[in-house]
Amino acid sequence: MSECVSGRYEGRRSLITGGGSGIGQATVLRLLAEGADVVAADISVDGLADTVEKAGDVGERLSTQLVDVADEDSVQAGVEASVERLGGLDVLVNAAGILRSYHTHQTTLEQFERVLRVNLIGTFLVIREAIPALIAGRDAAVVNFSSTSAVFAHPYMAAYAASKGGIQSMTHALAAEYAKQGIRFNAVQPGSISSGMTDGSGKSGQSVGPGFPGDVDVSLFRKLLPAIGKGFAGPEAVASVVAMLASSDAAFITGTEVRIDGGTHF
Ligand SMILES: NC(=O)c1ccc[n+]([C@@H]2O[C@H](COP(=O)([O-])OP(=O)(O)OC[C@H]3O[C@@H](n4cnc5c(N)ncnc54)[C@H](O)[C@@H]3O)[C@@H](O)[C@H]2O)c1
Repeated sequence: MSECVSGRYEGRRSLITGGGSGIGQATVLRLLAEGADVVAADISVDGLADTVEKAGDVGERLSTQLVDVADEDSVQAGVEASVERLGGLDVLVNAAGILRSYHTHQTTLEQFERVLRVNLIGTFLVIREAIPALIAGRDAAVVNFSSTSAVFAHPYMAAYAASKGGIQSMTHALAAEYAKQGIRFNAVQPGSISSGMTDGSGKSGQSVGPGFPGDVDVSLFRKLLPAIGKGFAGPEAVASVVAMLASSDAAFITGTEVRIDGGTHF
């Protein structure tokens, strides 16, 4: 893990879902580098082990929690255990998610519901369980994961895009509802980021890559490549923005989203 780049997270108690791969893992490492106490939560044992290995010697500042965000009982138990271990909660990052791709007319109800269940309802469940601790927290901040698919057309991803649009709208509603109780809610809108989800490279069995149907019309993907850089960026490009949004540097930012796609969609 990289050296501590600043102390803005010292004593900041942080729960990060999806912490076993990709952007969630990069966020765990980033917040640790800035001095945070972190619980990395994920459904994947192998992913969490990979995160612990990459974190190196951080003592008791990192612990892991197995959680299935799509399962209400698992979320209740997982958030409660995490808050207890951290001694409270100041930061929640909801990075857990899945990407599945289908022709919509061939999508089963079960497939469509699964994507919404993990991404949208999973984000809701974790937030609901965490809110009491966040209200009691210090400069509490939540960062949710939208996607460029929420606002720019992404073919073959109707369920995924709908789940991310829902997360973005929910973020706005929550920002208003809890503003006076001291919780900021923002979202990131990543795109063109290499991760388990986009290239299937993660340790998690959930990260299978987009798995597009074999007969997709590639001409429908009109905006694929970033305008800056040399192709897809690494997950650190998002983790650094999440770190800003969940820190006191963003004390006057709530109810909005930041697109991080290297200009793919401007
Ligand atoms: N990579 C991109 O270009 C991109 C673009 C837009 C949005 N996002 C969003 O970023 C977030 C992180 O994804 P990533 O790209 O790092 O992919 P990733 O597959 O590398 O990481 C996702 C993590 O979520 C975990 N997860 C999946 N289902 C879970 C469940 N039910 N309970 C708990 N954990 C679960 C996986 O095990 C994995 O560790 C996701 O919400 C994704 O939708 C990514």
